Amino acid sequence: MSDIGKSITQFIIEQQRIHPDSTGDLSGLLNDIVSACKKISHLVNRSGIIGLGGASDSENVQGEVQKKLDIITNDVMVEHLNWTGHLAAMASEEIEEIIQIPDQFPKGKYLIAFDPLDGSSNIDVNLSVGTIFSILRCPETEVDGVTEPTIDDFMQKGTEQVCAGFCVYGPSTMLVLTMGNGVYGFSLDRDVGEFILTHPRMTIPEDTAEFAINMSNQRFWEPPVQRYISECIKGVDGSREKNFNMRWVASMVAEVYRVLTRGGIFMYPLDIKSTTEGGKLRLMYEANPMSFIVEQAGGVSSTGRQRIMDIQPENVHQRVPVILGSKNEVARVVSYHETN
Ligand code: AHG
Ligand code: MN
Ligand code: MN
Repeated sequence: MSDIGKSITQFIIEQQRIHPDSTGDLSGLLNDIVSACKKISHLVNRSGIIGLGGASDSENVQGEVQKKLDIITNDVMVEHLNWTGHLAAMASEEIEEIIQIPDQFPKGKYLIAFDPLDGSSNIDVNLSVGTIFSILRCPETEVDGVTEPTIDDFMQKGTEQVCAGFCVYGPSTMLVLTMGNGVYGFSLDRDVGEFILTHPRMTIPEDTAEFAINMSNQRFWEPPVQRYISECIKGVDGSREKNFNMRWVASMVAEVYRVLTRGGIFMYPLDIKSTTEGGKLRLMYEANPMSFIVEQAGGVSSTGRQRIMDIQPENVHQRVPVILGSKNEVARVVSYHETN
């Protein structure tokens, strides 16, 4: 029987039953995330009507001006996740320190890192935005129970992720999930208020003729990326002997969703403007969860010099170069880094 049409609730419980010793905590946590994403989808959809467009008067830890919706969606995530007893602590793009579970609530065995609203510069122009999350086990729980998790507990490589996902608020709201057993895409059916499995076992074609990069940064890139993009642009007249198409949405969620559906390569490489920061995209709540999803769909995700999920994190908000997508194209960009 095809799995298409199954609700995400049923899907999550069936996944839980594959592991007989499961406590149901991960299922509970995923259900909380699903509820938060439904609420955010509703707010994003109505943002113009209810006056949530535009900038706030504050900056986040990255020194970026926060949109009103950056703050509100962060609050939605925290309020949906802090009381149900599945988490030991949280980390958010919008909050400098890690977020502790209030004393009145029980603590659970998982940690979550999230970007509550990715691509938020797109909010006021009515383009896709999203929510990205990464779930880790809290190391202390395996020994003697959690007291007050610290930043050190979050400093786990991407390979340690238990689950990762993102929700994209586009023409339809889609939630994409991996628990290390393939990638599954669900569409929000607003009439019944449920995410429905519409894209089972998403896979990324190995080859592609489509790239996504912010071309306005071209003069700041390193030579390997300069070489790769100039070869793409030369098309049939250059060494690649085929034409390439380009896309740039400026929302990682939308770019990765496109790569998952029809292949492609997405890059936010190192450039001389961001050398001291190490890149633009954030490791813990952008690069790692997206890398887990991309690898589970048969793609590759690298900094150009290292597999992203092998990076030992040193900071919750650290940034990394990102080159991900169709296997053979990412391998080519990596090989250009080796010969430079
Ligand atoms: P966020 O809105 O969470 O800060 O993330 C935006 C990120 C990413 O989604 C996107 O790929 C990139 O920044 C856009 O960068 P440009 O502004 O250079 O286009
Ligand atoms: Mn983001
Ligand atoms: Mn964001």
